Amino acid sequence: MKAQKKSILLLTEIITVLIYTWIAETEAKVPALIVFGDSTVDAGNNNVLPTALKANFPPYGRDFMDTRKPTGRFSNGRVATDFYSEMYGLRSFVPAYLDPEYGIEDFAVGVCFASAGTGIDPATARVVSVIPLLKQVELFDEYQARLEGYLGAEMAKKTISEGVYVISIGTNDFIENYYAFSTPRVLEFTPERYVQFLIDLAREFIVQIYMLGARKIGFTGLSGMGCLPFERNRNPMWGSPCIETYNNIAIDFNSKLQQMTDELNNALPDLQLRVAHLYDFVANIIQNPSLYGFEEAQYGCCGTGTYELGYLCNEYTPACTDASKYVFWDAVHPTEKTSMIVAEYLMNTTFSEFK
Ligand SMILES: *[C@@H]1O[C@H](CO)[C@@H](O)[C@H](O)[C@H]1NC(C)=O
Repeated sequence: MKAQKKSILLLTEIITVLIYTWIAETEAKVPALIVFGDSTVDAGNNNVLPTALKANFPPYGRDFMDTRKPTGRFSNGRVATDFYSEMYGLRSFVPAYLDPEYGIEDFAVGVCFASAGTGIDPATARVVSVIPLLKQVELFDEYQARLEGYLGAEMAKKTISEGVYVISIGTNDFIENYYAFSTPRVLEFTPERYVQFLIDLAREFIVQIYMLGARKIGFTGLSGMGCLPFERNRNPMWGSPCIETYNNIAIDFNSKLQQMTDELNNALPDLQLRVAHLYDFVANIIQNPSLYGFEEAQYGCCGTGTYELGYLCNEYTPACTDASKYVFWDAVHPTEKTSMIVAEYLMNTTFSEFK
């Protein structure tokens, strides 16, 4: 009896050591998560900008961690990048670079430069006065100098080269710019040419952050924009089907993005650029919501769920009781639960490929 107990204890110890070694190894692999993009991953940078595109008021954030307070995330809780960070064994959320509550000691393991409403096309950011992608690169450059001051040159360099970068952007270039006629883009380009224009700009962006030291980069592909409640519920046809034109643009974008990714990986030494393909996975959630425990995939939780977004989703628009039954939180953005499921899927696939 005693011997048995002892060997169980020993076994527990061995397992504990194994687990800690494993955690230490995974932690050592990814020193930081660095985020660029739009509202799909903005953790609150827009809070300090003179833009109308914000989400730092209720009911946004009502399920956010322990505080249950709005943060500026376009979600009832956390967004996908917060979950990646947690799954990598880093912090359980990624703070916004412009949030005055956080400093370089926080940003050293994770930082978000994303800005809701922005796009790959600089003209998209101008539509809603938010941070263009080029400016996000400038902030990243400034961050590196601060990081060096905090960690020392060698550690800072290691963080930059071994950190994982997430880029989530592109939808706004279509729904807020090209198809919204907000800029003359629709007169300048056919949809196919506009996709190529965006891919060329995305390539320039990747090269810029590569020159600044980034190596492990996950570029999120587009999901079916035509299935966003905001788009499909404007469709007068019976049953509000997803808008195929928009979905086809996303498919075209993703395939050109993959092509550009293959080219860059061949051209730039040590680059590990990966496309996070989520189109099919998200389409499956929307077509079969009950498989994932959802009850509603056509309407968002906030208000009527057809157009409410940003200031139009507020304390006076009654929201659903249980957001975890909804795929979408507002008319454009996923609920925390959807973000978690998608993050888990991408962690199982794209984000586990980095060496
Ligand atoms: C991710 O992988 C784990 C472990 O294999 C599995 O249990 C889980 O269902 C996967 N999640 C998704 C969303 O693919």
